[in-house]
Amino acid sequence: MKDFSSKTAVVTGAASGIGRALAHAFADAGSRVAVADVQPDALERVADELRAKGAEALAVPTDVSVPDAVSALAERTQEAFGAIHVVCHNAGVFAGGLSWEAPLSDYEWVFDVNVWGVVHGVRAFTPKQLEHGEAGHIVITSSMAGLTSAPFCAPYYMSKHAVLSLAETLHLELEAKGAAVGVSVLCPELVDTRIGESDRNRPEHRKRGGPSHPERDLVEGAIKQSTGTGLDPAEIAARTLDAIREQRFYVVPPDGDPWRVACDARLDTIRDGRNPGSVVPGS
Ligand SMILES: NC(=O)c1ccc[n+]([C@@H]2O[C@H](COP(=O)([O-])OP(=O)(O)OC[C@H]3O[C@@H](n4cnc5c(N)ncnc54)[C@H](O)[C@@H]3O)[C@@H](O)[C@H]2O)c1
Repeated sequence: MKDFSSKTAVVTGAASGIGRALAHAFADAGSRVAVADVQPDALERVADELRAKGAEALAVPTDVSVPDAVSALAERTQEAFGAIHVVCHNAGVFAGGLSWEAPLSDYEWVFDVNVWGVVHGVRAFTPKQLEHGEAGHIVITSSMAGLTSAPFCAPYYMSKHAVLSLAETLHLELEAKGAAVGVSVLCPELVDTRIGESDRNRPEHRKRGGPSHPERDLVEGAIKQSTGTGLDPAEIAARTLDAIREQRFYVVPPDGDPWRVACDARLDTIRDGRNPGSVVPGS
């Protein structure tokens, strides 16, 4: 897909961070943009920002962990804008802690959003992206966490490995079908967003009980602090649109970036049959 003008793009997790930046980038490129998020007030503000720059924008409050809500988002987008071309399955949350101490509710919540949210999105949108026969693209937000492993963040890293695999599978399947819909997996390094405050939108039924744990406090504190030093989300959005134009699947940091080095080190470790080492920057 080379030209985004007068095309329809959908972005989940669009009320903040990378999703908001993606929505702006598609609007700047001339697309109609449907934005979805579980936080309605912030979502409406983003839709207003897009309209203020002359774009057509539709805000649909959506919890991506609820399959019917994601299907309703797909229906509403199609009703409002017609053919759906680009879908960014981007909503995501973070929780840290020792694997055996993290409460089940952490695993469930992170998987609800980061894995099931993407599965529901792919099932609801892909048939609609295929049915009109025009060029389209699917972007799944994984992370460099999907290509590496680190201590004290099992639910998050596991979720990002899972959607990376789903993205690779989708790519192979759509290619096998000769479809006009491409796939990219977005694997950012550290980005300046509110991911460290993911709890702000954690639903009641997935709330944590019990005591806090030192490793959890350490890693969640570090995420909160370090994201402020991360890249501007606009840079990640620009990288993503370039990758779509170039039909590039892996959207990763540039060569030489410490996360690329960590990813190479992990692959070398596997190839050489050595045991895992701590390869993630800062771990
Ligand atoms: N910030 C980083 O350093 C970084 C690095 C790699 C990957 N990512 C990934 O980027 C994606 C976007 O995160 P971000 O960093 O912009 O964080 P963010 O917190 O700024 O934005 C995430 C958005 O997702 C929304 N969201 C949460 N639960 C939802 C749900 N159930 N349904 C719909 N929306 C929901 C939040 O309300 C929020 O607006 C995530 O998938 C994250 O894992 C972030």
